Amino acid sequence: MSTINQIPIQTAAKRPGAEGNGSAAAIAVENVHKSFGSQKVLNGINLDVKRGETLAVLGRSGTGKSVLLRLIIGLETPDSGSILIHGQDIAGLAIDRMGEIRKKMGFLFQHAALYDSLTVEENVAFPLLHHKKEMSKSDRAVRVKELLAEVGMEAARAKMPSDISGGMQKRVGLARAMALEPDILLLDEPTAGLDPISSGEIDDLVLKLQQEHQVAFIVVTHDLHSAKAIASRLALLDKGNVVIQGSFEDLQKSEIEFVREFLKHS
Ligand SMILES: Nc1ncnc2c1ncn2[C@@H]1O[C@H](COP(=O)(O)OP(=O)(O)O)[C@@H](O)[C@H]1O
Ligand SMILES: [Mg+2]
Repeated sequence: MSTINQIPIQTAAKRPGAEGNGSAAAIAVENVHKSFGSQKVLNGINLDVKRGETLAVLGRSGTGKSVLLRLIIGLETPDSGSILIHGQDIAGLAIDRMGEIRKKMGFLFQHAALYDSLTVEENVAFPLLHHKKEMSKSDRAVRVKELLAEVGMEAARAKMPSDISGGMQKRVGLARAMALEPDILLLDEPTAGLDPISSGEIDDLVLKLQQEHQVAFIVVTHDLHSAKAIASRLALLDKGNVVIQGSFEDLQKSEIEFVREFLKHS
């Protein structure tokens, strides 16, 4: 068994059968509770996402959607419950091991999609510079070009983030999130604040990335139309819980008052 800083990689938290085949969950959130002070934000959340699946997480502002993503990335820790990535509980993992796991997770934050002092191509090169130190300069340039082509942003490679539109910034953010070939992608409101055409373009890009890379995708959104377009499954959050989880049709058929209200106002 290999070790990183004397911590065995095969920890007891690893569950049998939880990885290594296509049907296992890449992300499993099990009965997670999270409060800030006296404010309960997540109240026993359960979710799982497999590779090749896109889960849309919906809900009003302030329901804990961003907190949920931050927990999955390991930027916050649950008060109770578990977050399993490829079957491994990330609680209490050594920093090096968490770093290894996080390298395989691409994410796009709700705000500050890009480093504003770096050009578009420097932004995309950033994860490669930091996590693939062995990569030659010319290989890196090739990879950056490939990533920018994937999101249709080659022409803007030398621009600064402030000189491109919000939709373009999100595209570049997606290219950067894909740089290390993640098997998990987490996007926090990728279409918020965009006009309908730009939103539609981001949705198309999410669909294309999913088809080509078969990742476990979680997209947080409050846009039901976007969720319907991109997701294989939708989860609606309210008051720290998953109110309903299923297809768009399942939501439409639901008789739960909150679901009906949410659909009516979306
Ligand atoms: N680090 C934090 N400290 C204190 N409160 C927080 C923190 N992060 C989030 N919250 C609170 O948790 C609630 C859920 O936040 P968030 O997950 O950002 O909601 P949203 O569903 O809009 O993404 C909000 O009331 C927010 O103020
Ligand atoms: Mg949020």
